[in-house]
Amino acid sequence: MKITLSVIKADIGSIGGHIKPSEKLLKTVKDYIAGEGHGLVKDFYVGYTGDDIAILFTHTRGKGDSKIHGLAWKAFLAGTQVAKDQGLYGAGQDLLKSSFSGNVKGMGPAVCEMEFQERPNEPFLFFAADKTEPGAYNLPLYLAFADPMNTPGLLLSPEMNKGFKFRIMDVSYTKGDRVIELSTPEGLYDIAALLRDNERFVVESIYSKKGEIAAVVSTTRLHNIAGKYTGKDDPVMLVRVQKHFPATGEVLAAFSRTHYVGGGMRGSHSMPLMPMKLNSPTSYFDGPPMVSCAAFCVHNGLLTEPVDVFAHPYWDYVRSKASRKATEMREQGFSGAAMLPYSELEYGGIVEILKRLDKKFKVKK
Ligand code: F6R
Ligand code: MG
Ligand code: MG
Repeated sequence: MKITLSVIKADIGSIGGHIKPSEKLLKTVKDYIAGEGHGLVKDFYVGYTGDDIAILFTHTRGKGDSKIHGLAWKAFLAGTQVAKDQGLYGAGQDLLKSSFSGNVKGMGPAVCEMEFQERPNEPFLFFAADKTEPGAYNLPLYLAFADPMNTPGLLLSPEMNKGFKFRIMDVSYTKGDRVIELSTPEGLYDIAALLRDNERFVVESIYSKKGEIAAVVSTTRLHNIAGKYTGKDDPVMLVRVQKHFPATGEVLAAFSRTHYVGGGMRGSHSMPLMPMKLNSPTSYFDGPPMVSCAAFCVHNGLLTEPVDVFAHPYWDYVRSKASRKATEMREQGFSGAAMLPYSELEYGGIVEILKRLDKKFKVKK
């Protein structure tokens, strides 16, 4: 059976700052989809990661379907009304356009979708991150799909040993989707050269050499849509696992490094990416930037219950490491590597200060 997995996520308001959506808001979104999605979607799951609500749909309507996207958009609109009624912070903040035009891409919500022929056993992972950017997945994807130090499957499985195709997007290009396709193992250094720059080059998707979809990432840059920063992009990702794809544990292992990503407080800092349990709030320094992961199997479009893979005790150790790294970076305050470059700051304040001070500079005679 050919099935489509669509993830559509948005921040439409949260309690106490950018912490988490309210129960009533979540329930409104869920109830809307349960009611209006009848006959349209095969199955769905709704969860939150920090202040972002993500909806996972299974259906047979293909990618970019206006009815599926419209359903998510209307569910978010219904939620926004509740967020406004409750006075939640940032109510409706990711719904950047006033009228729906058939596809939520370019309208604020983050989207990632894949269509494939279901295998008899179809496990996959659904990731959602908060207080960070799409490039936060660059390093974990490189490790999981291209590095035998992380993924022994690249040596052990003859199919995986052939390598993968990485489609990488230049997200600074705003006139369209500017992408490049590079293959492993031969293109490893070229891929690494691009992926070091998380702000500009983002893994959009990964395919097997046979052309089977393996991973998709949402590549939305909110500031490209709004013309100014309206919040970090908080990306979602789907990864098919096992057999000819990396094993679940190989993909997860890539997240144990808690690498530094752009985001955190006011979307303007370098902070470690902390793997968190499903439906977790933010805390320290409006973060730390977090990623959650629900493992599923799907059959005939029907989802199993999710497994919260970062709830295992191993990840308590990783979370402690991330806390330590976060604290150490914060000891740097505003200095050097602690803050993002001007182009990535969520606020224009520093640029304004510099403009003002620039006039006062004098060249010594
Ligand atoms: C991401 C997020 C942050 C905020 C940023 C701005 O989910 O919440 O990137 O967008 O902290 O905050 P305010 O709205 O207070 O200016
Ligand atoms: Mg937010
Ligand atoms: Mg968010």
